[in-house]
Amino acid sequence: MNRNRLEVVIRGATPDDRPVLADLIARSARGLSRGDYSDEQIESALGTGVFGVDSALIGDGTYFVAEAGGRIVGCGGWSRRRTLFGGDRFAAREAEELDPRSEPARIRAFFVHPEWSRRGIGRRILERCESDARAHGFRSAELMATLPGEKLYGALGYGVVERIDYEMDDGVTIALVRMRKELE
Ligand SMILES: CC(C)(COP(=O)(O)OP(=O)(O)OC[C@H]1O[C@@H](n2cnc3c(N)ncnc32)[C@H](O)[C@@H]1OP(=O)(O)O)[C@@H](O)C(=O)NCCC(=O)NCCS
Repeated sequence: MNRNRLEVVIRGATPDDRPVLADLIARSARGLSRGDYSDEQIESALGTGVFGVDSALIGDGTYFVAEAGGRIVGCGGWSRRRTLFGGDRFAAREAEELDPRSEPARIRAFFVHPEWSRRGIGRRILERCESDARAHGFRSAELMATLPGEKLYGALGYGVVERIDYEMDDGVTIALVRMRKELE
């Protein structure tokens, strides 16, 4: 397969995409975060649902997939709900809707297939999310980044708010970075 010749198309995710997305998220985390996290941290984040599909975003129409040659090679989304990070299996969910005039939209769950990294897919999905959030009246966006994610978001204008060592449900800790950007 010649990746350079394949057009990458961004489309809304559907519930049917969920099994493929779960597989993509695991491959992405295992393939692209090894330099930043230990294998134990990566497996804990996948196992406890810190990394995972959030069906609420798919239901809201705010989660996107990048497709190339009919194959899903990346995903990411935004949210008008309070939950800052974590997939369906993650306990801390807050479905309450945010006030766009005073609260930042959430940028959520970006994962790119290792064979497709550094081709601008993360950037394209992020730009789509920001423009949609802006269209919904949001003036800023916030997220909880992984250390690999910090490089993408930092390059696209997000500043560090705080660095945390997050203790997952199984007791393993992982370094995460809260980041924020003004959208106007
Ligand atoms: C973070 C992630 C989504 C980035 O996706 P991507 O499609 O490779 O990113 P892009 O190609 O759009 O990168 C855009 C810019 O971000 C920066 N960037 C992205 N990844 C980088 C890296 N590993 N090192 C340094 N800069 C990086 C660069 O400035 C890049 O522009 P350039 O390639 O022209 O230099 C991907 O690495 C990933 O899936 N990581 C594992 C899962 C994860 O931790 N996700 C984040 C959850 S918060």
